[in-house]
Parts: sequence; structure tokens; C-alpha cells
Amino acid sequence: MNPDIPLQLLGGLTAREFLRDYWQKKPLLIRQALPDYESPISADELAGLSLEEEVESRLVIEQGERPWELRRGPFNEDDFKALPERDWTLLVQAVDQFVPEVAELLQNFRFLPSWRIDDVMISFAAPGGSVGPHFDNYDVFLLQAQGQRRWKIGQMCDSDSPLLEHADLRILADFEQTDEWVLEPGDMLYLPPRVAHYGTAENDCLTYSVGFRAPSAAEVLTHFTDFLSQFLPEEERYSDAGIAPTADPHQIQRDSLDRLKALLTEHMGDERLLLTWFGQFMTEPRYPELVAGGELDEAEFFAGLKEGVVLVRNPSARLAWSEVDDDLLLFASGQSRLLPGNLRDLLKLICAADALHAENLSQWLADADGRKLLVELIKQGSLEFADE
Ligand code: SIN
Ligand code: CO
Repeated sequence: MNPDIPLQLLGGLTAREFLRDYWQKKPLLIRQALPDYESPISADELAGLSLEEEVESRLVIEQGERPWELRRGPFNEDDFKALPERDWTLLVQAVDQFVPEVAELLQNFRFLPSWRIDDVMISFAAPGGSVGPHFDNYDVFLLQAQGQRRWKIGQMCDSDSPLLEHADLRILADFEQTDEWVLEPGDMLYLPPRVAHYGTAENDCLTYSVGFRAPSAAEVLTHFTDFLSQFLPEEERYSDAGIAPTADPHQIQRDSLDRLKALLTEHMGDERLLLTWFGQFMTEPRYPELVAGGELDEAEFFAGLKEGVVLVRNPSARLAWSEVDDDLLLFASGQSRLLPGNLRDLLKLICAADALHAENLSQWLADADGRKLLVELIKQGSLEFADE
């Protein structure tokens, strides 16, 4: 997509301007980002999703059994009947994986890497409903989809910001308001990580949170070193051939630290392994059990394609690709595949196309590597048949 075209979604800013001036830096209120947006899912349907075993959902009740009571789903119909008239919120995670029309919303965010997107969480709030003043460590676009919500934003927070004593929710003890708006359907608020925010429903309202993910430095270090260590033989150790005689045997000298740093740098700087780990990590599905795959009759599959069989990405799968030297890497739901450079357009197609069929796959169906890749992705569960 052209980064220099003004976008309604960004209030007339181009993607380039938004990324330069706002992304990860400061909040942006966008009136009618998606003009008169109509929620493809109703409050009742959202509540219906929260009854399902595989769906992650929460209820926050301001005056529940204790202040800001948090309950975790799956819920049942009686849970909803017993709720008070007002001041509660139902939050349902990753609705994009269950409702294709909600996944379509993500097409609007193609100016950002798709592997940075976490999910679309949808909240329904009764009048007065809120999850309290808090901050998140992630970027979020808060799209108003039904009813009105009053958003207040405040100070930049961090892990030292005082919180209320609460077992389950991270509610800020102090909220220093800087701005306040009432959002109508179609309005959207972008918040960078750590900005305090406090949204309260003016009336029955649905809010979509397009949330992003970024691993913490601690996660990167622990997970990458774990990954790396699988490839390192036991005999590779700290070594000090050529060591100078010690003046004091109890002292750890500078040259020992330098040897250690060299050992770390050599492995930490392995770009191929770093990329492999990162791609695998960033494409790990939220619900791995929904990317199960299974056996496949290959002959039947290729014959079926000619008869009009259509493949789609499993909505729970995550895909990304990259290149290293002359090879390509495809990351699919936590796994990586090293592929020959001539498959580049096929990888792009698999990652981006709404559907794969005999027509857009035609040039690849004669290619042994291309055929093998399609088969593997179906068996792994990242691709599936459209009518399933
Ligand atoms: C909500 O939709 O109620 C909460 C979203 C958020 O504050 O992150
Ligand atoms: Co939040």
C-alpha cells in the first residue's frame, strides 16, 4: 500500500505521517475513522461467544462481590441474567479468530506489520461500565462500534506507577487526566503503550480494541537464549587458552570478561538463528489447539483444486516471511521453513491472499517445492479448506 496517501482511518494523515509523529509516541483521536461504522457483531452475539469453551472472556463488575470484581469465562446464560443494570463490562479476546467480518477490520491496518497485531478484543459495557483507569504495555486502536464511550486519557505510566491493591486488575491509584472525549460509532482513539486511559460507557456500548504485541526485552532474552542453546554442544565452553599469569588468583580480570563477551556476541549475533527464532516466536498462535491440521490425501487435494476447491488461511494461524542470503523463510504458526528463493511470490500470496485456488496458484501447481509447501501448510493446519 502507498504510504503517502492520506487515509480517512488516520484522520487524513498518511501512513508515513502517522508512523513518524504518533505511532509509539502520542495519542491520536480520529473522528469518523470508519464513518458510521456498524458492528458486525451484536452485544448478544458477543455474549454468546463468551459461553464457548475455547473463547477467552472476562467480566468486570464495578460493584461486584468486591470493587472491580473480575470473573473469567466461559460464562453461562444465568451469569448474564444475574448482572446488575449498569456498571459492568464484558470483554472477549481475539474475536477476529471467530468472526470473519471482525477479521476484515484488520485490512485497514496493513500499513503496520501484520505480525505485530495481536488480536481484536471486543468489549460490551452497560451504562457506566468501565475496567477502571489503567495502562497497557501495548499500542491499541480503540474503535467505537456502538453507543457512546467517554475516554479520558492521562499520564505516561511505567512499572513504578502506583496501583490499587487488587488481586486481578491493574487499576491506577492516581489518574492525572490530560484529555477527555466522547467517542461515537466510527470514531477511533490510538494510544501508544503506557498512556493512562479510562473509558466509561455513556450507554450500552461496544468498543473494539485492535491490540498489538511486542515481546519484552526479558522475553526476547530468555526465549532466544533457550532456542539458541539447543544448537550449542556441551563441549563449547568458556575457554582461556593463552591466558596471562595471574597477579592475584582470586581476581576476575578484565580479559576474562572480554572472553565471555566474545562468546556471547558470537552466538547472539547469529542473524540467521535470531531471525528464525523471532519469526517462530511472533507467529505462535494464541490458541495453538485451533491450528491442529491433520492428514491429507495429496492426490485428492490437487485434483480437488482443479474442481474448484478453495484454500483459506486458518483464522487462528499466523504467517510471516523473510529472507536470509538467497533463501526464504516462511513462518507459519510458530514453525519455520527454509525455502528456495524462487518461491518468493508464492509466500507473499499465501500470506496475503484472501483465498487460494487453481487460478492464483496455477503457476505453482507445476512446481514441486510449491506443491510440497501447500501440502505441509494444510497438514500443519495453517491453511484449510474454505468450506470447512
Ligand atoms: C474496554 O474496552 O473496556 C477496555 C479497553 C482498554 O482500555 O484497553
Ligand atoms: Co486498556
